[in-house]
Amino acid sequence: MQPAPHRGLFVSFEGIDGSGKSTQARALADHLRSLGRDVVLTREPGGSSGAEAIRRLLVEGDPDRWSPETEILLFNAARRDHVEKTICPALAAGAIVITDRFVDSTRVYQGTARASLRPLVDQLHDLVIGLEPDLTFVIDMVADVALARGLARATGEDRFEELGLGFQQALRAGFLDLARTAPERICVIDGARAPDAVAADVAARIEAHLDG
Ligand code: ADP
Ligand code: TYD
Repeated sequence: MQPAPHRGLFVSFEGIDGSGKSTQARALADHLRSLGRDVVLTREPGGSSGAEAIRRLLVEGDPDRWSPETEILLFNAARRDHVEKTICPALAAGAIVITDRFVDSTRVYQGTARASLRPLVDQLHDLVIGLEPDLTFVIDMVADVALARGLARATGEDRFEELGLGFQQALRAGFLDLARTAPERICVIDGARAPDAVAADVAARIEAHLDG
C-alpha cells in the first residue's frame, strides 16, 4: 500500500511498558497546541472505535492467549482501522498526529522479542498499512524501573508486562537496535529524568524538525 501524500506531520512515541510514552505524548500535544498547532493525539492498539474493540482482545487475559502470528494479524487489523479512520483523515487535513505506539512496537514486540518474525511483520506492514511516521521518539530507560512503574498502575491491561523483566530487557534492546537502523527517523530520548526535562528534550527536537 502507498499512503496518500499529505500536509500533516506524523509523530510516534515508542518504548517499553512504563517508560513514560503516554506522559510525553500528552505533554507534546499540549505544547504544540499552545503554539497554535492543530494536533490529534491517539494511541495503539486503539485510536478508532474498531481498533479499541480489538485492543481489549490484545491487552487483557492470559499472556499465552494468542500465538505471535495471530497477534501480528490482530495488531495489523487494529492498525488498519486506526490509519483509515483517524490518522489519514487528520494528516490530510494538515494536523500533527501524535500516536502513542505504532508499527515499531510490532517490529520489536512481535518481530524480535516475543518471536523472530520480523520478515512477516515487515511484509504485512507493506501490504496493508504502508505508512511510516515522519519522526519517532523512543523513550529509553532501564527495564526494571519502567516495569515497576507500569505494573503500579494496575490497569488490568498487563498481558505483556506479565511476560516479565527478561522480556522487557529484550524489548529495550530491540528498540535501541531499531533506532540504530533508522537514525534519520528515530530519536532516542533518555527517559530516566523528571518528566519536564524529558518533555523539553522532545519539544526541542520537534521544533528543529518543524523549522527544518
Ligand atoms: P507508558 O505510556 O510508557 O506506559 P506512562 O506515561 O503511562 O508510561 O508512565 C508510567 C507511570 O510512570 C505513570 O504512573 C506516570 O505517571 C509515571 N511517569 C511517567 N514519566 C515519568 C518520569 N519521567 N519520572 C517518573 N515517573 C514517571
Ligand atoms: P500500551 O497501552 O501502550 O501499554 P503501556 O502503557 O504499558 O506501554 O500498549 C499495550 C501493550 O501492547 C503493550 O504491552 C505493548 C503491546 N503492543 C505490542 O505488543 N505490539 C504492538 O504492535 C503494539 C502497538 C502494542
